[in-house]
Amino acid sequence: METLTDQELAAAHMARYDLGPGYPQLEPPSWFAEIVNSEEVRAASLSFPPAWNPRRSVKVDQDIESAVRSLLRIPESAHVMPTFSGSVALDRAMTAVVRLARHRGCTNVRVITTSPSIDIMKLFLSERSEIEPTFVRAKDSSEPPFILDSQAFCEAVGSSCERFPESMHVALLTSPENPTGEIWTIEQLESVSRLCRDLKAVLMVDHCFLLAGVQDATPPAVWDVAQPGLDWIGIWDTGKTLGLNEEKLGFIVSGGESLPEKVSSAVNTVQFGVARRQKMSLAKILSHERFSQYTRQLRQACLDNADVLRDTFSDHAQFLLRTPRAGSFALIDCAHLGMTDESIRKELLKRDVGVIAGRVFFHAEPVPSSYLRLALAREPMHFKESVLKLRYELLRM
Ligand SMILES: Cc1ncc(COP(=O)(O)O)c(C=O)c1O
Repeated sequence: METLTDQELAAAHMARYDLGPGYPQLEPPSWFAEIVNSEEVRAASLSFPPAWNPRRSVKVDQDIESAVRSLLRIPESAHVMPTFSGSVALDRAMTAVVRLARHRGCTNVRVITTSPSIDIMKLFLSERSEIEPTFVRAKDSSEPPFILDSQAFCEAVGSSCERFPESMHVALLTSPENPTGEIWTIEQLESVSRLCRDLKAVLMVDHCFLLAGVQDATPPAVWDVAQPGLDWIGIWDTGKTLGLNEEKLGFIVSGGESLPEKVSSAVNTVQFGVARRQKMSLAKILSHERFSQYTRQLRQACLDNADVLRDTFSDHAQFLLRTPRAGSFALIDCAHLGMTDESIRKELLKRDVGVIAGRVFFHAEPVPSSYLRLALAREPMHFKESVLKLRYELLRM
């Protein structure tokens, strides 16, 4: 079956009305262009010693790190490491955990995570023979469906630790979640964090959509609940917020006794560094005085587009919509069409509309097969045209 990335690429390459990839496709403010095209950034990218010197290299690294630290309110004690993207950050975080397990003499790693959730998690886990995953299902029969079941999650972590004391355990969460937009509250994160500390399990949270949250509040992060004795990792990347056509960086934030050191060595296995140009321009964008205004506009565009989606389908109650609490996706349930999500997706693609088949996000039975994921972070006019076209084509099926 095709993965999320395969489907996103198909939508981006084939559909004029592209509601596939989650990256924002909104015209950036003019100050972005001033930074990206600035002479300072271009000249630094093309400078070599002796014109360039170690002091300037250190400054570039310090600037991007302090921009990310102050934007995300990451405590001093945490370790921050840049890498190419969110996926590379997740991949290296997983490798760091496997190295920690070897260091502790554990026989294998048991990862407890959620379903539905982003499919790259599952793909990464299946690539590593030393990892055994467990997927805890959301409450899919609740209204709205797919509410996180934090109690079931904590029970699963507890019972895995009890049954397999020779394994290392990882509690792996995503907040805001892709595609449901569910977030882990501070109380829920605190209880998972306490549990992990007591059971010597690692807490890993993917926060890639952290700043693409709906409304003003930024969801709580793992570093807000990290406590002495806990080994933890948080992932963040710029791609879900800035949408600069794949110009992005991922970050691995970590804490605990030996995890930061394992993260550094895992990252250094695949990279000497990331592009100087990207570190410079992203540091300037993230610390710009108008950056929070930009993220507010992005969130507002997602909220407005969600309203447009609801209005467009208001006379067609047979299509059930689920608009998010955070993040930038909506789900539409097309069960009444009697077709699978995958066949609807393929049919829509032929008719110039790009969407994602919801089943790629489900990793535990029963897997629903009637949801489509729609990206909300789009130019308002283009989004409206796209959902009108989507409705027109769905009603013809
Ligand atoms: C929750 C989440 N984490 C990580 C990633 C991977 O990020 P990147 O595109 O930077 O590789 C994605 C991609 O969609 C995602 O949704």
